[in-house]
Amino acid sequence: MTGGNGLKSYTKNSSYQRGVIDAAKSHIQGAIAKKLQPENLETFSVADLGCSVGPNTFFAVQNILESVKLKYKTHEPNSKIPEFQVFFNDHSMNDFNTLFKCLPPNREYYASGVPGSFYSRLFLRGSLHFVHSSYSLHWLSQVPKEVTNRKSLAWNNGRIYHIHAREEVTKAYSMQHAMDMTNFLSARAEEVVPGGLVAIVVPARPNGTPHAQVIFNMMFDLLGSSLMELSKKGLIDEERVDSFNIPAYCTCPQELEAVIQKNGCFSIERMKSLSTVIAPDTRHRPQDVSLSIRAITEELIREQFGAEILDELFHLFTNKVGEAHQDIASGIALNLFLLLKRN
Ligand SMILES: C[S@@+](CC[C@H](N)C(=O)[O-])C[C@H]1O[C@@H](n2cnc3c(N)ncnc32)[C@H](O)[C@@H]1O
Repeated sequence: MTGGNGLKSYTKNSSYQRGVIDAAKSHIQGAIAKKLQPENLETFSVADLGCSVGPNTFFAVQNILESVKLKYKTHEPNSKIPEFQVFFNDHSMNDFNTLFKCLPPNREYYASGVPGSFYSRLFLRGSLHFVHSSYSLHWLSQVPKEVTNRKSLAWNNGRIYHIHAREEVTKAYSMQHAMDMTNFLSARAEEVVPGGLVAIVVPARPNGTPHAQVIFNMMFDLLGSSLMELSKKGLIDEERVDSFNIPAYCTCPQELEAVIQKNGCFSIERMKSLSTVIAPDTRHRPQDVSLSIRAITEELIREQFGAEILDELFHLFTNKVGEAHQDIASGIALNLFLLLKRN
């Protein structure tokens, strides 16, 4: 299951992400009520980037459309409400068939699938009015090259993520993220009409918070030590662990602001933490946390190590999540809502 850019398609929706979509709902409603300038349009185009297979994307889209209709009705009661075109985007290997089969039968929009990486151009110039992306932009376009290069100071041996690694490893991850966000913004700058909105939700860390204190990051770190344990037992080759890294990064407001300002095409209209979301933390049983991490990493692990190790790996991981209870309890879980407006 490899996507167009050589990366996997991480297709599973989780109830945790559903919680995130729900928590973002009122922010999106508010954003559209306050920031959208209704124009006399024939077609209003919405794109959901990193849509997966549903159903979360359908809830998000429904919320956007209802909010836009409400804005049109209250702003200009006599004006015509445009027709809606919705583009569902994900990697080309996403299961678009499942997505299309599950499209709500009573939908009031025309649906299209758009395959490809959102780190490059996907849509016609000046064709989108509202872009949405939830829980997708923390996936990097690739593992930073240096971290798998034995000759580099950023070689990440014995780990699969940058937590507790050399500073150079974290720097490589952060630079990859900045590069990816730059590409994302440049592509959207071409595609979004002036005054158009981009709403993003990402797992993040507060400014100044060390990466190691973020629960999201702790999970990948524990998964890495579980893999190392399997390699010590001789069940997997250590070199395969050394060459495996999770292509994800947990950003912070400062880093996002820096790339958005450098790009210069968008104003930041809102940046808020979604505090109502329950993180996969101590309130969840280790087994449930393990299942949710398995859902998002299983494909990547299967491709690198084979399917045989999965059950034992996640058994070890579940134990480690249980043992790390105290650290996780004092960890940080932040989901950031970001609203951008095209200048
Ligand atoms: C965790 S799921 C989130 C799904 C849904 N948005 C939600 O909130 O439930 C992340 C999705 O982003 C997609 N994704 C990751 N990187 C992507 C990229 N560069 N281009 C398009 N889709 C990407 C994955 O394939 C996956 O379907």
